[in-house]
Amino acid sequence: MEQQYKLIPYILFGLLSSHFGSAVVAAPKICPPGLEADSPTVPFSIEQADINSGALSFQQISNHGKSLFDARFNRCDGSGRPETTGGGDKRDIPSFSEEGEPITAAQVEKLRTSAPDSDACSGCHAQPESGGAGDFVANVFVLAQTLDPVTLSVSPTRSNSRNTLGMHGSGPIEMLAREMTADLQAQRAGLGDGVHTLTTKGVKFKVKIANGQVVESEGIDHDLIVKPFHQAGKVISLREFSNNAMNHHHGMQAEERFDLNPSKGMDFDGDGVERELTIGDETAISIWQAQLSTPVQVMPEKHEEREVVKHGEKVFNDVGCTSCHVPSMVLNTRHFVEPNPYNPAGNCKSAEDGCPNFSFDMTKTGDKPRLEKGPKNTAIVRAYTDLKRHNLCDDANSANPIRWFCNEQLAQGRPDQNGKPGSEFFLTRKLWDVGNTAPYGHRGDISTITEAILYHGGEARASRDAFAEKPVEDQKALVAFLKTLQIVPQKK
Ligand code: HEC
Ligand code: HEC
Repeated sequence: MEQQYKLIPYILFGLLSSHFGSAVVAAPKICPPGLEADSPTVPFSIEQADINSGALSFQQISNHGKSLFDARFNRCDGSGRPETTGGGDKRDIPSFSEEGEPITAAQVEKLRTSAPDSDACSGCHAQPESGGAGDFVANVFVLAQTLDPVTLSVSPTRSNSRNTLGMHGSGPIEMLAREMTADLQAQRAGLGDGVHTLTTKGVKFKVKIANGQVVESEGIDHDLIVKPFHQAGKVISLREFSNNAMNHHHGMQAEERFDLNPSKGMDFDGDGVERELTIGDETAISIWQAQLSTPVQVMPEKHEEREVVKHGEKVFNDVGCTSCHVPSMVLNTRHFVEPNPYNPAGNCKSAEDGCPNFSFDMTKTGDKPRLEKGPKNTAIVRAYTDLKRHNLCDDANSANPIRWFCNEQLAQGRPDQNGKPGSEFFLTRKLWDVGNTAPYGHRGDISTITEAILYHGGEARASRDAFAEKPVEDQKALVAFLKTLQIVPQKK
């Protein structure tokens, strides 16, 4: 028995060497006691040291990231978190449902509401290909994952139901946010008390400083870090998101947050597997997402249709949609650099943490179509967003019984919300993939682009009304224009 146990890593190492070349030393995975007859879906982890030393090529790292994103994790991989919540805290076991019934181990293992709710990242992010957006059926009950005991309820009083976003173009988006953050923090450093308007890449952020501290900030947190991920703008990097999602959705723990953290420790979730995701694994999954193709405009073939699309783009501009959905921004670098230096605690952010910079040129490397080059080593990001949070709710909008964009009841503790629900503060949605990522809206409960436009209120009221007053031909052209903005799936 003992001997067989030792053989497994040996066999796996053989497999791995043929996959990666013999220079690479990776960490093989072994099933927990009792499951030795089975095997993990992803049989090995990669070590960050092999990324640092150059033993692994860009393609090998990216392919490993894809295999982690597509894997339907099983218990040998370390899926499940019987002793912890999706927020990464210890649970009170045994748990009880809100109806007072004991939650059995089986229920905690997988639960659509409080999660673990799925086997693979690509179970939700699949449209039009892995890494993309999701159907309404793939919605996440955000905040339910932190509840202990878990909840069986999908009521909006217990969680915010959110639709799955796509990650195509997320490398350039993360880099834009980093440049904006650096800009804002540099401007802020020179300011005394009072109300100021900071401007980065043409986007204005009003801040109030008192006693040397930012006490109010419009569309951004007081730390002035542009957080481009999560529809409410809460997450700084692909790495932070992946660490969260791995734990939340799959019960897969990143060692940078758990095993290596003295306040948590080895096998913190009590599922019998240690080092479920190495620092190298998290680098790989972040790199794979960052290298996904960039969404582009796919023009119709017929001349007349192309003319309609061009007219639609003009209407989009004329009615003021571009004040938030900024058509393009200039990125001063063409390189994606992992990790993000603004990462919060629990996410590797520097060489000191064990993940020195790994970078690649987004205009030359990764899935095609790639990021567009701009003059003098810059790049152009046509994402149709300002990466700022806005309030689309007003009395007229909120009076609608379904409330569409104004339907969330739970706040997420952001200082700019003053205790108001999250629905009043969403990042301007990127529109560069809107043509093939239906349904629409943060909850994914809107089936047409026209409705999504008409449900804008609040800060977008004037622009929405200007659209509503346009002749139907103009409205049609605008919608036709938006439908040309697409993710181009990779050829098989
Ligand atoms: C059960 C469905 C589901 C699974 C599984 C899932 N996601 Fe997501 N993902 C979502 C939803 C929903 C959002 C939007 C969340 C929000 O805005 O509140 C999202 C957003 C994201 C974002 C931010 C995109 C953006 O532009 O803001 C990233 C990055 C991401 N997911 C990565 C992952 C990774 C990596 C995995 C696997 C470890 C994963 N997701 C698993 C549903 C899922
Ligand atoms: C004040 C800023 C602002 C203006 C102006 C604005 N939008 Fe938006 N838009 C947003 C925000 C924020 C969202 C995300 C809403 C949500 O899901 O809660 C959004 C979402 C959308 C969506 C849904 C996309 C998806 O994939 O779900 C579409 C389509 C859209 N906007 C089109 C337009 C058009 C067309 C105009 C002009 C008539 C416009 N917007 C004007 C901020 C704005």
